[in-house]
Amino acid sequence: MNPPAPPSPPTAASEAAEPARAAPEADAARPQGFPMRRGCPFSPPEEYARLRTEEPVARVTLPTGREAWVVSRYEDVRELLADPRISADIRRPNFPALGEGEQEVGARLRPFIRTDAPEHTRYRRMLLPEFTVRRIRAMRPAVQAIVDGLLDSMLASGGPVDFVPAYANAVSTSVICELLGIPKENLEFFRDVTRVSGSRSSTAEQVAEALGGLFALISGRVERRQEEPGDDLLSKLVAGHLRTGNVTVPELLSTVGITINAGRETSTNMIALSTLLLLQRPDLAEELRADPSLMPAAVDELLRVMSIADSIPLRVAARDIEISGAVVPADDGVIGLLAAANHDPEQFPEPERVDFHRPENHHVAFGYGVHQCIGQHLARLELEVALETLLRRVPTLRLAVPYEEVEFKHDSATFGIERLPVTW
Ligand code: HEM
Repeated sequence: MNPPAPPSPPTAASEAAEPARAAPEADAARPQGFPMRRGCPFSPPEEYARLRTEEPVARVTLPTGREAWVVSRYEDVRELLADPRISADIRRPNFPALGEGEQEVGARLRPFIRTDAPEHTRYRRMLLPEFTVRRIRAMRPAVQAIVDGLLDSMLASGGPVDFVPAYANAVSTSVICELLGIPKENLEFFRDVTRVSGSRSSTAEQVAEALGGLFALISGRVERRQEEPGDDLLSKLVAGHLRTGNVTVPELLSTVGITINAGRETSTNMIALSTLLLLQRPDLAEELRADPSLMPAAVDELLRVMSIADSIPLRVAARDIEISGAVVPADDGVIGLLAAANHDPEQFPEPERVDFHRPENHHVAFGYGVHQCIGQHLARLELEVALETLLRRVPTLRLAVPYEEVEFKHDSATFGIERLPVTW
């Protein structure tokens, strides 16, 4: 992993980050490298502003050495992700995976996020009934109990603690394990699986080994649920889809595995980054403490501003596709940059400003189109409960190291924080 660049803290004024600056001239002969690095952890790479105005469809070189197109304007990203002429099939030769390990193992295991209809539709339909607003709303008391229990343990430790394992990862992993009915004793195990499988520098062997460990754990649980059904999601999938022959055991393992991986790392990063932002911006923390009813709007604004899953929507053009006057030729890889879209001033006036009263916040932090995040209601619930409880119960929370020593994750599938020492 590359050493992180020193982050620039947000100012105490209304801006979360410095205004975007134009990047140095791109080398005309060779496309720019991608992913681009964030200067401020709470904002997209500064280069995105130039892309939006000067090169809305730009050619980039990926860490694998392959080339792909990146699309950066809000309207273009939405159109692209809703276009039936794009494919999410990771087996396509120019699929723009960011790591060789992901590409090779993904082509073998085919997690449904990286498949097309009709396969994709079959898996998605299997999961959707469990992720409706109503089902997730009913989980609030369970999520609150998890959060309170973890906060009790963190406070009992006396501090300082690393907030990422002690709270952010513990909350997100415990919630997803609760939903699925998977034992959550070993929280670090899940963290390690994602650390390896989501890293761009992991080899195919390393990714396969990490996912193999996760599948072994789920597999043991599937066997158990065949004999002793509960009322968790895994039991429902076993009864409603495995027993009926709708899915095979490997398909079930891959579906549950991607749900765990997609769900816990993203929420962990959002809880940790949002907490850091609120520590750097006491005015915003105070606003939320004074009026907790702002929390749902605040969560969506934090999701928009930070857009941590920026380079998750990887696609291939199945036909020539015209976007903003440029043509992405058939069979080329193309990535809709969610963070660039979410900071498009045409859609979000003063996009760097963190504004919990922003009207019409139709951000794309959860993607757009047929692959839009299935767990978005759960993610919002976790964030609301985790942040509201923290602000209420630990008003003295503060960094235990200088801001410059906070370590960020620049090398993983979603942007986040590696280590966040805090005290209170
Ligand atoms: C803050 C938290 C989260 C963020 C920012 C996020 C972001 C995203 C994005 C951008 C996509 C679309 C990928 C694409 O278009 O290729 C996605 C898909 C997905 N997410 Fe999330 N996610 C979050 C939390 C969760 C949670 C909590 C779960 C599950 C419990 C989850 C499960 C999934 C699954 C299964 C997909 C694949 C959907 C499909 O391909 O049809 N995510 N997520």
